Amino acid sequence: GTTADHEFGDAQFVVVANRLPVDKEVLPDGTVNWKRSPGGLVTALEPILRSQTGAWVGWSGIADSDDNPDIEGIDIHAVPLSTQEIAEYYEGFSNATLWPLYHDVLVKPEYHREWWNTYVEVNRRFAEKTATAAAEGAIVWIQDYQLQLVPKMLRMLRPDLKIGFFLHIPFPPVELFMQLPWRTEIVEGLLGADLIGFHLPGGAQNFLFLARRLAGQATSKGTVGVRSRFGVVQVGFRTVRVGAFPISIDSGDLDAKARSKDIRKRAAELREELGNPKTIMLGVDRLDYTKGIDVRLEALSELLAEHRIKPEETVMIQLATPSRERVDSYVRMRAGIEQLVGNINGVYATVGQPVVQYLHRPVPRDELIAFFVAADVMLVTPLRDGMNLVAKEYVACRSDLGGALVLSEFTGAAAELRSAYQANPYDLDGVKDAIEAAVQQSTEDGRKRMRALRRQVLAHDVATWAESFLGTLESVTETAADPNRG
Ligand code: ADP
Ligand code: G6P
Repeated sequence: GTTADHEFGDAQFVVVANRLPVDKEVLPDGTVNWKRSPGGLVTALEPILRSQTGAWVGWSGIADSDDNPDIEGIDIHAVPLSTQEIAEYYEGFSNATLWPLYHDVLVKPEYHREWWNTYVEVNRRFAEKTATAAAEGAIVWIQDYQLQLVPKMLRMLRPDLKIGFFLHIPFPPVELFMQLPWRTEIVEGLLGADLIGFHLPGGAQNFLFLARRLAGQATSKGTVGVRSRFGVVQVGFRTVRVGAFPISIDSGDLDAKARSKDIRKRAAELREELGNPKTIMLGVDRLDYTKGIDVRLEALSELLAEHRIKPEETVMIQLATPSRERVDSYVRMRAGIEQLVGNINGVYATVGQPVVQYLHRPVPRDELIAFFVAADVMLVTPLRDGMNLVAKEYVACRSDLGGALVLSEFTGAAAELRSAYQANPYDLDGVKDAIEAAVQQSTEDGRKRMRALRRQVLAHDVATWAESFLGTLESVTETAADPNRG
């Protein structure tokens, strides 16, 4: 349909994310290859879009590309970014300002006005592209820290839309957020949505405080629940809901794949190829300083030195997807991790038998599932992580009730996965004790823990997450439209 000066699109449901679900690669001979995009956001949202048709607005992962790849069931709308925009909006403001600020300032956030200006410009481009894709009255679901201004910008272009926003990373403590020179603009940008979702009640409560303090809006003050007891911000005549919606995975799909004969066979082969060690430990991460890969390597190194773990019985596999490789802090961190791996092998390996096996590349999905099935101890030790889907993926793959999960307290997942071996990643002795306990667990205790973990992960899958968010979004606008209700 059209209004006076506006052409609407066709999509009744639109996901807007910095990344498209696929990542474009141009090979040296010029052929184009579309691979799965890295990260948990795409892992979670892809099955949602497959089950209900919709559009996806996002960036292809390389400069100056406006190709719209064919993906079954998803109508792709690519937003091209120039080389300079990638440097200033993506590597700069998104990943050298917001990412470290929202993750406990693990590295020092950089504040540059040019980066901010480009962030504003690129957010406007995403809002405009979304406005042309969305049908009248459509539901638009904006994702993550790269696009926090899009809710307000899109509402100004298209007040007919129902707008949801979900933050996939932690929302920081108020004292840290206050560092941001553009803190008020960010809060006001988010308040353009009808529903703002966080993983945890704590993040939602931090945001409510800031909406009061920085945007001067009236807000509810009670505690926010998980998928319940939503907070409220009154923005003029509009009511914005604020809630906690812990994200998850397609647990049933992963469970089924991990049970398949091919995967079981491959898992057994992997153990053989590793020389049948007593204990296979596994880490699976984007190579990011938030993930605490150094923490688990330090812990392993000390456990070996103290003879609490035997090098001849143990293999640790660290799968690390390259990530944000042009951002300084990532370059430094990679060097540190590779040095630790080298140190451990230098001291404890024998020829042909490294203790740590490290792959700096993404592993195909089926191969990854085989690794999960083969691993006796899964090491998830972030210093801070919004959720951490890897922990849930491991649990979903263990229908045999084998394996043990070592899990940092500072992941969103720790709030749900209570039967894991939890540890404070800053307390190296605590991490070592947790790893040792996981290595030595009795079959019976392990099965009991894994059964409890699986109950949680299978009952709360990514469909539950999307339904609770989208269900709340739809009910929000109904009540908001009727002043006699709510
Ligand atoms: P993040 O979103 O910060 O990267 P998550 O743990 O939430 O962290 O999600 C990571 C996703 O990427 C998971 O689906 C995981 O299986 C996948 N992944 C991470 N590392 C690798 C790897 N080395 N090879 C293949 N997939 C990976
Ligand atoms: C995290 C973020 C996502 C991001 C992903 C991969 O999951 O929350 O927004 O897409 O990491 O990072 P990248 O910078 O490669 O998109």
